[in-house]
Amino acid sequence: MGELRGTHVPVLLERCLELLAPALDRGDRRTVHVDATLGLAGHAEAVLAAFPRTVLVGLDRDTEALAHARDRLRPYADRIHLVHAVYDELPDVLAELDLPLVDGVLFDLGVSSLQLDAPDRGFAYAQDAPLDMRMDQTRGTTAEEVVNTYPADDLARVLRVYGEEKFARRIAAAIVRERGRGRITSSARLAELVRESIPAPARRTGGHPAKRTFQALRIEVNQELAVLEAALPAALDALAPGGRMVVLSYHSLEDRLTKQAIGVRARSTGPVDLPVELPGTGPTLRLLSRGAELPGEAEVAANPRAASVRLRAAERIDPDAEPAGEAGARTGRTAGTARGRSTGIGGEGRGGGGGTAGTGRGRGADPRPAGQGKTARADRERPRRQVKALHQPSARRRSATSAPQGQDGRRRPGETDEQGEGS
Ligand SMILES: C[S@@+](CC[C@H](N)C(=O)[O-])C[C@H]1O[C@@H](n2cnc3c(N)ncnc32)[C@H](O)[C@@H]1O
Repeated sequence: MGELRGTHVPVLLERCLELLAPALDRGDRRTVHVDATLGLAGHAEAVLAAFPRTVLVGLDRDTEALAHARDRLRPYADRIHLVHAVYDELPDVLAELDLPLVDGVLFDLGVSSLQLDAPDRGFAYAQDAPLDMRMDQTRGTTAEEVVNTYPADDLARVLRVYGEEKFARRIAAAIVRERGRGRITSSARLAELVRESIPAPARRTGGHPAKRTFQALRIEVNQELAVLEAALPAALDALAPGGRMVVLSYHSLEDRLTKQAIGVRARSTGPVDLPVELPGTGPTLRLLSRGAELPGEAEVAANPRAASVRLRAAERIDPDAEPAGEAGARTGRTAGTARGRSTGIGGEGRGGGGGTAGTGRGRGADPRPAGQGKTARADRERPRRQVKALHQPSARRRSATSAPQGQDGRRRPGETDEQGEGS
């Protein structure tokens, strides 16, 4: 295991810390933070350094990443639990650690530098490698199996839905023809095949012609969207009142799922025409970001992998807490709108209600120190789930991601450069 720290710059690190601070810094009280995508532990290390009373639960499905993270976080060994798990297994992980509620959650989605740059993992079209693309190399289907066994229609669907690839059918047909001549085993061969299958003018626009195909295969191999769709609500359920979740997405499919998962809890579920909120129908989340936040130019210049990031964040609120101080705004009951359905996007101050003060958190004893290296439930077969959002027509999908501006007033980027993602 080589030293990788120098190659890795955590994306939007300062902003993540700023957003998590009110949840993780509670004076003398011990807090719990989940890094659902530990990776090389850049964000995790900064959290542990900034919040000395925070215990970290770090998840990653990649054993190699976990080994690097464990090495990097050695100075904090008494405050970490590192777990080999897929992040939709978070409820089981927290139950096993006897940590029913947590104060912070971070998802930094996608692949890491370690995975992208590894010469043998097959994630990047730019270098030749066996077609693997599994984040967890201990289990699951490889990209080679997908490419060589899926019927043409299924291949085309994967490329169209997960890669938003206009030439999905042509590429799928070319793959099927080529594999009739011999098994496709290398990323370079696949990248070349994709390049050859699309019309010449299209090759000259929109980055490398294979980037969408590689994104699509990676999402399929790792069942990324189905897992994310299950994980986000589970993580939100685990947040204590006042707890915060930050999500960094790198393509529109991830960002759309995040927007939906957060948005649905930031709205009232009560009848619109009632002047007051009924018990249990108020929003359970307060949005902390207006739309999706984008990186600044300086960050992108310093870290090109940040170029496609979109950040969304929210705070858990107690819908039945008495509104006081800031709380009215937090629950969307803003002045002038008796019970606004719109969500108040609050400032960062934490004064007043929202259910944060004196909340019996029902947590068990103080988090136990590092059990280090719990290994996963490698034997557990994961059911395949359908992602509802994927069945929307593409025009609708496009409009869902085009609209609002980021907090800095810039438009959201169009399609993202998948192979430039991650942190
Ligand atoms: C972009 S990197 C995270 C980088 C990290 N924030 C840092 O600062 O080093 C994403 C990591 O999440 C992991 N990952 C992706 N999907 C996952 C999932 N469903 N469950 C668990 N880990 C996942 C990947 O293996 C990768 O190591």
